[in-house]
Amino acid sequence: MPAVIHVTDDRGMVFFLDQDLVLGIPEIDADHAKLLRFIDTLNRELQFKTYSTKELNKLFTKLLAYAKGHFAHEERLFTMMGYEHAVEHAAEHKKMASVLEKLSRNNAKMVDILKFLTTWLNDHLLVHDKLYVEPMKAYFASLNL
Ligand SMILES: [Fe+2]
Ligand SMILES: [Fe+2]
Repeated sequence: MPAVIHVTDDRGMVFFLDQDLVLGIPEIDADHAKLLRFIDTLNRELQFKTYSTKELNKLFTKLLAYAKGHFAHEERLFTMMGYEHAVEHAAEHKKMASVLEKLSRNNAKMVDILKFLTTWLNDHLLVHDKLYVEPMKAYFASLNL
């Protein structure tokens, strides 16, 4: 997983996804790494224009399915550990999925989808996912007693 991904849009803006996004929970980090790889692939396809619209849409559909699977994964763990912020967190996931579905239905430009994904993922991981790190680690530790 690259530590930093540069995403350039029409106006040359750049976004960063960096090492701060690693939470230290291997099964969650593996999911996030895969999501970042999807974003990285989309980004490269866009920058080097090696794609067809059909291929990009296919990649985006896969990304969306993977993201939903990841959300469900986190939410299953929240239920198991009795996480106190489970409801708000799941609402954030739902919002994210519905914005992506809307972008997909409206055939939004891939660069706009990429911008949304990058900023959302950055914000979500740093704020909401970071919040469950300690209780989730404690939960996993309690299983090994
Ligand atoms: Fe996550
Ligand atoms: Fe999350």
